Amino acid sequence: MLKNDFPIFKNNPGLIFLDNAASTQKPQYVIDGVSEFVANDYANIHRGLYSLSEKSEESYRHSKELVGELINCKASEIIYSYNSTYGINLIAQSLVISDVIKSWDVVLLWIREHHANILPWQILAERKGFKIEFFNINDEYEIDRNDFDKKYTDKVKVVSVAHVSNVTGKIYDVKKIHSKLRDDTFFLVDWSQSVPNFPVDVQDIGCDCLVFTWHKMMAYTGIWVIYLKKEWIKKLVPMIRWWGTIEDVDVSWHTLATNSDKFEAGTPNIIGAVSLGKAIEYIKSIGWMEKIREHEQKLVKMCLDGFSKIKDKVEILWSSTAGEPTTTDRVAVFSFFLANNTNFNNIGEKFAEQNIAVRCWGHCAYPLHKRFQKPWTCRMSGYLYNDEQDIERFFEILDKII
Ligand SMILES: Cc1ncc(COP(=O)(O)O)c(C=O)c1O
Repeated sequence: MLKNDFPIFKNNPGLIFLDNAASTQKPQYVIDGVSEFVANDYANIHRGLYSLSEKSEESYRHSKELVGELINCKASEIIYSYNSTYGINLIAQSLVISDVIKSWDVVLLWIREHHANILPWQILAERKGFKIEFFNINDEYEIDRNDFDKKYTDKVKVVSVAHVSNVTGKIYDVKKIHSKLRDDTFFLVDWSQSVPNFPVDVQDIGCDCLVFTWHKMMAYTGIWVIYLKKEWIKKLVPMIRWWGTIEDVDVSWHTLATNSDKFEAGTPNIIGAVSLGKAIEYIKSIGWMEKIREHEQKLVKMCLDGFSKIKDKVEILWSSTAGEPTTTDRVAVFSFFLANNTNFNNIGEKFAEQNIAVRCWGHCAYPLHKRFQKPWTCRMSGYLYNDEQDIERFFEILDKII
């Protein structure tokens, strides 16, 4: 029973945590691993010649090797950042100051994106004059092909999309999107809701840049991963510069590091990186990503069954694209509203009274909600420590709320 590995449940008896798409709980293994590191091995990294600094450096590097193993890339292609706003901004700004995006170019986004993949582009577009276009999602929640073909003009230099919707839980075929792109289009994929839930492979998707966050995968907050293809590490220059990013400095000039370090300005989140390494070790110990996916599929099946029984009273945003819902094209994320339009906050509060944590409102995807003219929703999302009883209790309370 994996729940026993997570002290939050012992310390909050009766808690049913279904807000995992926002952030996950931390296993004792990660908490202990971080405490031991801080108590025994912590110091700043890079260029410290004493043993503590070397140990700390080793833990930092080791966590990158583990990430490389998880997503199938080299540790040298991994950059650590702090959160999605910071990370996508870092890449977007680098693309602008490296002249990959010029003032007459277009960045193409999907209307269903998380705001983290909209705002950084908007801010830069306002200042630099390039244009942002959005391609549409059709009524089946699939890519609107005609609209994509119309918007994907020669001017498009960047396409940036999420692999899995944080609102509907739908998994998208980003490989197929990639196959439609010209070689000179920079393809960024937001993996925030896919890496935590199923095995992923950078080489298989074949994109230029992938970003994902680790607090959604049992590590601490403030550690975000950017995978950047080797050729782009060489080509792009970062906007933010500080020690770590440079090779040499004089009063009127500086030269940049040539490896991925050039994107990590200042003292990095060393403790966060260790928590991330510990989270991957924990995932290995429970049977790797395949086990997580297997468990998640059981949760998805239970949720689909549960929602189908009350479908005249509760609507979920997307359950299937054609015909019967299937478990394989989604993760355990469900956004729903009551047919009688009960306010989403009232529903969230009723769940909270029963010690059930769900999330309410627009889930940082307002354009998606507006596109479908749906009210704001409540979102429940499962993870590896949720069990059958959690899902049964969720539907029992939802039934009472109805
Ligand atoms: C698809 C997607 N992208 C980006 C983010 C933002 O991640 P963070 O809150 O770690 O910055 C989220 C978080 O919910 C997400 O679901």
